[in-house]
Amino acid sequence: MRITVLGSAAGGGFPQWNCNCRNCAGLRAGTLKAKARTQSSIFVQPDGGVDGVLFNASPDILEQIRSKPVLQPARSLRDSAIAGVVLMDGQIDHATGLFMLRERKGALPLWCTDPVAEDLSQGNPVLRVLDHYCGVDRHRIALDGGSFAVTGVADLSFRALPLSSKAAPYSPHRDRPVPGDNIGILISDDRSGRRAFYAPGLGQITPEVFDAMALADCVMVDGTFWTDDEMPRLGLGTKTARDIGHLPQSGPGGMIEWMAKLPQHTRRMLIHVNNTNPILDEDSDERATLTRAGIAVCEDNMQIDV
Ligand code: MLT
Ligand code: MN
Ligand code: ZN
Repeated sequence: MRITVLGSAAGGGFPQWNCNCRNCAGLRAGTLKAKARTQSSIFVQPDGGVDGVLFNASPDILEQIRSKPVLQPARSLRDSAIAGVVLMDGQIDHATGLFMLRERKGALPLWCTDPVAEDLSQGNPVLRVLDHYCGVDRHRIALDGGSFAVTGVADLSFRALPLSSKAAPYSPHRDRPVPGDNIGILISDDRSGRRAFYAPGLGQITPEVFDAMALADCVMVDGTFWTDDEMPRLGLGTKTARDIGHLPQSGPGGMIEWMAKLPQHTRRMLIHVNNTNPILDEDSDERATLTRAGIAVCEDNMQIDV
């Protein structure tokens, strides 16, 4: 399969419009060795295939589509390589781009869990609004361990895992989580037998989550924060990484420790990086620590063949 990273930043992107943290200010001033990043999304195609699956619909989707010709194969007057959309949660950075697909001819094929469909019909009624445009052909992602396929995308199958992370602030489950608020996806290429695990928001690595990661040839997981107190320490509110459902990379029980337990051959990548995270500075000690641990930081437009 081929994975194209459309957006590798967390909500807000990098630089964030109103932020003057060391990273955002340094990138604007040209004094920081770092790359700008749009908000959280990947596109996955089977080997040799044109049509693929969009994971998450970012607020930056139009810019992402414009900069990636692979998403516009131009086979007809109105065309797109997006055969369907799969949502990992109902947060702003993963759902707002659905509005931008409203010109689609015919209902938009969309896979999400029941709690996400509920949040996107009530707290933030994107799906109801889209009914006035192209409409949504919603498919339910079950949490029974079964796999699903996306019509028009040969060879790929998908299995969802409920994750402990965080529903959006407009969700009635924000502080009373239910299974399916957030999911990770194990993507299998049934022809090559290769697998990838994608989880941009991941608060806790349970045995089930670790098993799915260990099955994958490539893991692309939560790279939001380096430390648990990253935001409060910068004076940006009081919430820790764990409070908002993200496992920090450093420290005991952090993502780096978990990734070290994966099989040697596993390709390790961080995605959904918050603009405050020191790993965005390519000259930082934190980035050097990741490199020594064999962990890459996703960048927009990266193509990953799994
Ligand atoms: C998160 O995952 O916590 C977000 O990126 C939230 C947001 O989009 O504001
Ligand atoms: Mn997010
Ligand atoms: Zn910033």
